[in-house]
Amino acid sequence: MKILITGGLGFIGSAVIRRLIDTTNDEILNLDAQTYAASPEAVAGAAMSNRYRFEKADITDQTAVAQLFESFAPDAVMHLAAESHVDRSIDGPGEFIQTNIIGTFNLLQAARAHLDAHPELRQSFRFHHVSTDEVFGALGPDDAPFKASTAYSPRSPYSASKAASDHLVRAWGETFNLPIVLSNCSNNYGAFQFPEKLIPLTIIRGLRGESLPVYGTGENVRDWLLVDDHARALIKTMKQGSLGQTYLIGGDSERTNLAVVETICDLLDERTGLLTSGPRRSLITFVADRPGHDLRYAVDASVTKEELGWTPSVSFEQGLADTIDWYLNNQEWWQRILEERYSTARLGTEPTK
Ligand code: NAD
Ligand code: DAU
Repeated sequence: MKILITGGLGFIGSAVIRRLIDTTNDEILNLDAQTYAASPEAVAGAAMSNRYRFEKADITDQTAVAQLFESFAPDAVMHLAAESHVDRSIDGPGEFIQTNIIGTFNLLQAARAHLDAHPELRQSFRFHHVSTDEVFGALGPDDAPFKASTAYSPRSPYSASKAASDHLVRAWGETFNLPIVLSNCSNNYGAFQFPEKLIPLTIIRGLRGESLPVYGTGENVRDWLLVDDHARALIKTMKQGSLGQTYLIGGDSERTNLAVVETICDLLDERTGLLTSGPRRSLITFVADRPGHDLRYAVDASVTKEELGWTPSVSFEQGLADTIDWYLNNQEWWQRILEERYSTARLGTEPTK
């Protein structure tokens, strides 16, 4: 297959590309604007393959997107490019509207034009939109996990922009007969995750003996999935998913934020020894809550498991331990980010735009 992947220099897109290059004969075009969140290092191995091509382009640029569809003539699109960090969407929602909504619109229009020009592709073509469980809003402690039929109730600028893009994709499927499939996943963790997110931020700050910020009371719950397991599920969704369907993907690993941070502290103590001040748990600092902080997410991934024959490969505890080892062994990667692009300072407290 010829697969156009957007956002392939990002955390999840790069994991998808590594897996596709390693395990298939597919040809990849990686379309990425190389924002602050991009990591070319994450696809360095894949880039050695003659089945991989990179184009630096912005999905908000309709002309560039249309030209790339024409020159590459994809059999499928996996659309992952997005502004992905909730805290940044509080500080500056404008880019989220541009990339996540307008950018998705441009890709849908380009895919329509592509199929009009190549009607023979219509039967097999797929436009796979990669989305988030956050579109469903917040669960209470005893609520059942989200299902694909759960009503949308996004509450942050990020999740509202992803909900809008989900709606656009479904509308293009219904109205223009575009062959679409969607997936909505829970929180990912693993190699090459940008240090703004909870798990890498805690690992890095914990290693450096810095305070570990926990928003509010730390009782908020997320469901964690290793990024490589998500990548495997995404490839199955794109290749085997039923037309028009939404697949929920999750790790069946709900944890409070405080429990996640405490586990990271203990694993770091085991690996690198205690700090001179004692165990790393003493670094935990409760800070002002995120505005509009969703209490709990959890997804019911049973349909995905049954229909696509997918299941997570590791427990959260094993995946977290492996992830900590990865950050210990790849300090050059994140130290460069800290020097050049992001110092691990708090984001998302003071709306400015
Ligand atoms: P990320 O922030 O790590 O990477 C995003 C990538 O998109 C970057 O390489 C960036 O350069 C690129 N990009 C951003 N704006 C662009 C634009 N205008 N044009 C072209 N490229 C652009 O994100 P991620 O964590 O890998 O998330 C990928 C997708 O998965 C997103 O759509 C996100 O909403 C979704 N998702 C993420 C998670 C998670 O836990 N990280 C969970 C569920 C769903
Ligand atoms: O649920 C899927 C979503 O998961 C994805 O769609 C998003 O792209 C991804 O960023 C992630 O969103 P979250 O807001 O859940 O992830 P984040 O790592 O920012 O925060 C996880 C939890 O930890 C959240 O409840 C806020 C809290 N937190 C976060 C940071 C950065 C803290 O307590 N302290 C922190 O320093």
